[in-house]
Amino acid sequence: MAKIVTILFCLFSLSATANELFSKADVAAGKALHDKNCISCHASSFGGDGSGIYTREYAKVKTSKGLVAQVRNCNTMIGLKWFEDEELNVAAYLNQAYYKFEK
Ligand code: HEC
Repeated sequence: MAKIVTILFCLFSLSATANELFSKADVAAGKALHDKNCISCHASSFGGDGSGIYTREYAKVKTSKGLVAQVRNCNTMIGLKWFEDEELNVAAYLNQAYYKFEK
């Protein structure tokens, strides 16, 4: 029985939509964290407010899960030590403002 539950859970999380992933995220808090910590580098390579990195034609990130992973990469790289919910807040903000992934 436990096995079946585990399998169902895995299937469910594989098919989780962006809405489910970000259901508890606080987009406004994410924007504040992002604007404070995440613009400088992106702006120096892409100009303006740096958001060009999110909308570039060959954007690295393709899914909401990939977005969370990339937020974590940049976060780890600059040593911010955010908690997982903070990473999710920022990813949810970026998704709402730029990526607009449904999955
Ligand atoms: C030290 C400089 C630097 C800082 C600070 C930084 N980033 Fe990045 N970020 C990069 C670079 C460089 C890339 C491109 C990586 C690549 O192309 O492989 C990138 C790429 C990204 C992408 C993927 C863009 C795409 O192609 O879709 C996301 C999302 C992102 N960063 C989020 C963040 C967030 C969130 C923060 C704040 C926690 C942050 N970054 C802070 C350097 C930085």
